[in-house]
Order: sequence, then structure tokens, then C-alpha cells
Amino acid sequence: MPEPSDFPVVVHDLHLKRGGRVVLRGIDARFEAGKITAIVGPSGAGKTSLLRCLNRLEDPDGGRVLLDGTDIRSIAPTELRHRVGMVFQGPILFEGGIRANLAYGLRDVREEDLLWALREAGLKDEFLTRDSSALSVGQAQRVCIARCLVRKPEILLMDEPTSALDKDAAARIETLISTLADHGLTIVLVTHNLAQARSVADAAVLLVDGVVAAAGAPSDIDEAWSREVRS
Ligand SMILES: Nc1ncnc2c1ncn2[C@@H]1O[C@H](COP(=O)(O)OP(=O)(O)O)[C@@H](O)[C@H]1O
Ligand SMILES: [Mg+2]
Repeated sequence: MPEPSDFPVVVHDLHLKRGGRVVLRGIDARFEAGKITAIVGPSGAGKTSLLRCLNRLEDPDGGRVLLDGTDIRSIAPTELRHRVGMVFQGPILFEGGIRANLAYGLRDVREEDLLWALREAGLKDEFLTRDSSALSVGQAQRVCIARCLVRKPEILLMDEPTSALDKDAAARIETLISTLADHGLTIVLVTHNLAQARSVADAAVLLVDGVVAAAGAPSDIDEAWSREVRS
């Protein structure tokens, strides 16, 4: 059985309102080191909102998020954003070189670190000198992943990272996600796709209407999914 210290991210009784609407109502969850935990649930369940609370893109109205036992509100934002990387649903790169995209906001970044991040994201060294405008969506998503990796995160948050991709590109990104976890990253993967959670995740949290409806092994939430999620 994993020890409590094996869970670098712990969420306690999280509540969030947005625009007068209750979005998260008392979320308890924990995310195991070096594993892939999927947050699954139907559209509007609060998956993105929960993920955004994990690196303070949102601040909850109640409850707390602990990173290695420390409330993330007491961690400096720049430190937090390095330790907890975020990959968004659609790959967002600015116009210009991939090198500039990877190094954005960083001082004294080393060439070898940029190349390491590209390789870790499954891209060849030559991408460093390419332009961001000439990429496939899958390649752009890899550059976004590499941009996080340059910052040497402990945790990688991914919000539906394959939803903009075709089936083959999505399968390749799923393989990459597994490889990153094998290399020690702790991954929180938001997906509305239960099959994806079953194929890549070690654990899953089912979110329905801002509440945790089930948590456990991905196969354990099937029953709750069929009960809670009307398709
Ligand atoms: N900025 C916002 N203002 C008002 N309501 C929001 C905002 N962001 C999200 N919501 C609402 O919160 C609920 C959960 O949204 P979200 O976290 O995006 O769900 P999911 O990612 O599971 O689809 C939805 O009902 C959505 O309409
Ligand atoms: Mg979402």
C-alpha cells in the first residue's frame, strides 16, 4: 500500500464558485507520485476547474491544496508554476521560433536543457530551430509539453491533451504520457474519455456535478460512470 508521503498533491474539501455558480463542492482527492491519475467526468463536471486549482490558476473559496504537505498559497507563484506544469486542451504557442516558445519567461536557459525537453517530449533536436507556425497539432502539443519539461516540473497537469488530435496522434501522445510517468513525473490527466483513462491511467477520480462520485482504479469507476453519467 502506498504511504501518505507517496502523494505529493493532496486536495482537502475544495469548494469553488464561478460567476455565482457552485462549481466544486467539497472535493477530496490525492495524486500519487510517479503515477497517472485521471480526472474523468462529463462536460461541465468541474474537471478543468479542479485542475486549475492545483496550480492556482483558480483560488478556491474553501479548502486547500497541499504540495508535499505545504499549502500552495504559501509557495511563491513562480516557484509553483515551475513545480506544477500545465498543458492545456489546445496547444497554444506564440508566433516565432520553438526555441523562444520553450524558453519563454526563463533566464539563462541552457541549450542542453531545451534539447533534453524536446527529446523527452518525443521531438528531434532539429525542432529547436524550427518555427512554431509549421507544426501539426500533435507536434505543437509536444512542444507545449516540452515547454513544461524545461522547467523540470514535479507535477504535470494535462487538460484533455488529446482532444484536438486525430486518433493516431492521440494514441502517440498517450504513449508519451506513460513514458513521462515512467520517468518519474506525477501526472494529473483530465479527460472526458473513460476509455483513455482505462488505457493510460493508474488511478481515476470520477467527478460529477462538482462532487467526487467515485475514486480508485480506472476499472473500479466503470460502474459509477454508468450510473452517474447519462450519455
Ligand atoms: N469563468 C466561469 N464563469 C462561470 N462559470 C464557469 C466558469 N468556468 C467554469 N464555469 C462553470 O463551471 C462548471 C464546470 O466547468 P469546467 O470546470 O470547465 O468543467 P469540465 O472541465 O468538467 O467540462 C460548468 O458548469 C461551467 O459552466
Ligand atoms: Mg474542461
